[in-house]
Amino acid sequence: MKLLEIQSSVRQEGSISRCLSDEFVQAWQMSHCGIQHKKRDVGINPPAHPTGLWTKANYTLPEKRSDQMAAALTESEKLIEELLWADRLLLGVPMYNFSIPSTLKAYLDNVVRINRTFTFDPATYTFEGLAKGKKALIITPSAGNFVVGTPQGEMNFCDTYLRSLLGFIGIDDVTVVPVPDQFMSDEIRQREIATARAKLMKLATDW
Ligand SMILES: Cc1cc2nc3c(=O)[nH]c(=O)nc-3n(C[C@H](O)[C@H](O)[C@H](O)COP(=O)(O)O)c2cc1C
Repeated sequence: MKLLEIQSSVRQEGSISRCLSDEFVQAWQMSHCGIQHKKRDVGINPPAHPTGLWTKANYTLPEKRSDQMAAALTESEKLIEELLWADRLLLGVPMYNFSIPSTLKAYLDNVVRINRTFTFDPATYTFEGLAKGKKALIITPSAGNFVVGTPQGEMNFCDTYLRSLLGFIGIDDVTVVPVPDQFMSDEIRQREIATARAKLMKLATDW
């Protein structure tokens, strides 16, 4: 099995999403044979944002693209190949202003592309995802509690958005492990980390 780990916290030290992801990957590797693991760190090395040239290239048939256009899509192509390579996606995604980190948005803008990860049929106005057969696991810490189903859950545009977008490209099997209340007392904080860890350790054998 091929695991692509995507980290998006801007923190290297003290990051809950990175720490729990490391623990999960270790446990998952111990439970499975023949694992291949790649890491894409968009928190530390964010991909470039799409530009005007990038956009023009994206909507130009590959055989009609100029050298400049092809060059503008080089990074995006590499990221898409890496995404399509994986059977499993592990995403470390802190909630930033009720949504995902902007670096992860830049990554998604690079990989969600027509005729690469989805198709559109104007005759029937239907979309189809091309990244099928994968599972995604999202570890999402937050200072407060914006877990779907809580009173503040309506403000969660983080994992809810990722579920929709991943579904759009064909990845419907999405598991979210929230780690809320990270700015509460140490007791509450640690309790939430322990709950998330227990879920992840169970997933390490089942996922
Ligand atoms: C720019 C920024 C925006 C944030 N916005 C929110 C937010 O909207 N809601 C929330 O509960 N926590 C918010 N936080 C807190 C983080 O989600 C929390 O510290 C989390 O643990 C960060 O993940 P990490 O530990 O993996 O770095 C924000 C943090 C930063 C740096």
